[in-house]
Amino acid sequence: MKHLDSLFRLTADDMREIFRISAVLKQKLQQGHRPALLAGRVMTLLFEKPSLRTRISFESAMAHLGGTSLFMTCAEAGLNGRESLSDIARVLGSYSDCIVTRTFSHRLVDDLVKHAETPIINGLSDLGHPCQALSDLFTIREELGTLEGKRLVYIGDGNNVARSLTLAAAILEMPIVLSSPLGYELTPEYVDVVKKKIPGANITLTYDPQSAVSRADIVYTDVWASMGQEAEQEKRKQIFAPYQINGKLMALAPKSARFMHCLPAKRGLEVTDEVVDGINSIVFQQAENRMHVAKGLLVWLLGISPAI
Ligand code: CP
Ligand code: NVA
Repeated sequence: MKHLDSLFRLTADDMREIFRISAVLKQKLQQGHRPALLAGRVMTLLFEKPSLRTRISFESAMAHLGGTSLFMTCAEAGLNGRESLSDIARVLGSYSDCIVTRTFSHRLVDDLVKHAETPIINGLSDLGHPCQALSDLFTIREELGTLEGKRLVYIGDGNNVARSLTLAAAILEMPIVLSSPLGYELTPEYVDVVKKKIPGANITLTYDPQSAVSRADIVYTDVWASMGQEAEQEKRKQIFAPYQINGKLMALAPKSARFMHCLPAKRGLEVTDEVVDGINSIVFQQAENRMHVAKGLLVWLLGISPAI
């Protein structure tokens, strides 16, 4: 059984195959076709945190493919003490062809994989955001024509999004440069784990955002305080201020460098309006692709890709 609890599950060929299916289904939709590849299938979403893109892109993807989606918060499902996680997982697994979950602790994702006998998709945990990174590399390939030799520069917090992007870039042999304030960078342990899986991984960490963007093909950022870190917002505002993506920083990047953000964005903090709304910004194409790649992922995960 396949899961996407983490990108550590995927090979480069798996990612390319998901991209292939996503691109085919994107093109079909643009031509007005919505093949019912998942007719009769049920996807359950079990979320502990808010979501716009992840929830709606998966639900729309499933609707286009002829399947059904059912949404529950973790509290509604009984995770607030009504029932044990292992019992909830076994029951939900028996009703569902797959479960998409969004959690604080990644342990909940691991427990679902352990107890629910159905494919599990991590729709974001404190540890990673694999669907986002998968979709982002699809977008970069679509925008730049190839990933080969392209330099992804991530400026900001070494968080769930940064971890998954680093791993996705490593799997597809893309150099990635990450620039974070001291104490907020990717941990050496994480970089080591990625390098152990992909010995050729080209990962550079720097504290200097100016030099980081100088050869960027893509400049990417995310919020300074993730969901669950709201109490640190004020402190982080001071620490991350030199890492804001504004016109001045983008002027140090090549003219052709695209701007990306997984969204939601805190405009005026990690990115200014002039950048997020500027001509080099591809954030809405990036957001739209979440749905196309959700389709590719679902079709691949449920094992029916040979049908298209
Ligand atoms: N990028 C993303 O995952 O957005 P949501 O939090 O709205 O799902
Ligand atoms: N790092 C952010 C990503 C939101 C899509 C968070 O976890 O809140």
